[in-house]
Amino acid sequence: MHHFAYRDGRLFAEGIPLEKIAQEVGTPFYCYSHATLERHFQAFEASLGSVPHLVCFSVKSNSNLAVLSVFLNQGAGLDVVSGGELYRAMKAGADPKKIVFAGVGKTVREMEEALRAEILLFNVESEQELLALDRVAGLGGMKAPVALRINPDINPQTHPYISTGLKQNKFGIPFDRSLDVYRQAKALKYIDPIGVHCHIGSQILEVQPFVDTLGRIKALVKKLREESIAVQYLDLGGGLGITYEDEVAPPPSEYAEALLGELGDLDCTLIFEPGRVLVGNAGIMVTRVLYIKRGPEKSFIVVDAGMNDCIRPSLYGAYQAVWPVAQREGEKISGDVVGPICESGDFLAKDRLLPPLEPGDLVAVMSAGAYGFTMASNYNSRPRAAEVLVKGTEQWVVRDRETYEDIVQGESVPEALSGADSGDGR
Ligand code: LLP
Repeated sequence: MHHFAYRDGRLFAEGIPLEKIAQEVGTPFYCYSHATLERHFQAFEASLGSVPHLVCFSVKSNSNLAVLSVFLNQGAGLDVVSGGELYRAMKAGADPKKIVFAGVGKTVREMEEALRAEILLFNVESEQELLALDRVAGLGGMKAPVALRINPDINPQTHPYISTGLKQNKFGIPFDRSLDVYRQAKALKYIDPIGVHCHIGSQILEVQPFVDTLGRIKALVKKLREESIAVQYLDLGGGLGITYEDEVAPPPSEYAEALLGELGDLDCTLIFEPGRVLVGNAGIMVTRVLYIKRGPEKSFIVVDAGMNDCIRPSLYGAYQAVWPVAQREGEKISGDVVGPICESGDFLAKDRLLPPLEPGDLVAVMSAGAYGFTMASNYNSRPRAAEVLVKGTEQWVVRDRETYEDIVQGESVPEALSGADSGDGR
């Protein structure tokens, strides 16, 4: 599954002991395994066989330029959701003809940038956005390649914060409206409706919701073709889940087989936007134990990473395993792994039976490769962690730990407020 494993009681990332990286880079840090990234991408690719397809890695899950490069080297495309992600994609050397752009709130500037880059597909989420894109494309004398994001109203049975394909979610165009909006799109001079897009949620552990979605979309594609709206691309989004604790996640082969079965002979190029399934278990976050507060009921293991570094446990109550970097015999500790932030919600793990730990020990928060660093913030003015990529016995810092200067970069105090020389006694 991944390449983080113990050798003689010490946790390694591929061929490198994590304590060595901690000594050189400090803590906390994110560590990604090149072999795992590659393997996950290849497994996904291979499951699609000879069906025309494009796997667009979802940049929001892990946007580090080096991670993007690993996938680009494998022939991946990218799924972006903002001008900033498009910038990263281009900087990492992506082929714009393999970039798809989603998001409910694209700005004029973002549309211009993506048109100029000549991306493969705008995944348009509303009628107003469609009209705006037509206007922007017209001003530039271009035609925008478009897939409408259809909200299929399918329950993906995942955390409500990360389910996106239900009527009550803000995403996409309601299924019942889709035919009308396609007709509208076809009539617009600077819009080229060539695809259908959908994405129903994230961390989905059943294939059936995906299959049901495809069933609905397939019927739509047939209707569109009857009206000579030539759909070439079917973008099925991302969302395939992974094992964090003991969930059984369908392997990409099972997911692909079920989808290809449902697709039948519908002649389309399939696009996928996997994020978590490619990077989730290819990354960990390593943090050092500062203090152990032993209490009557439970103990608190205070570490040097907090919710600003890894917010999933606090935000979604998500489970991420915590492994000791050095295994040790002794009495286990029951308690919470908490960070230094001034919030009771600042925890990385709750009510766990943890291995024996002491101040100075390192622990690894597992399955942190997706929505880990990308959701990090500077809350409490904490510099964001370093990111390290390991390949065999090589390691590279692929993002420096931020400095205090980085944190205040861009801020300024207006002269009128700078007390020092105001001279008026205030
Ligand atoms: N495509 C679109 C349009 C998306 O909105 C997303 C994720 C993906 C693809 C990739 O989904 P994935 O394969 O990674 O499930 N922060 C949350 C997850 C939010 C997902 C947002 N959209 C978490 O940490 O669980």
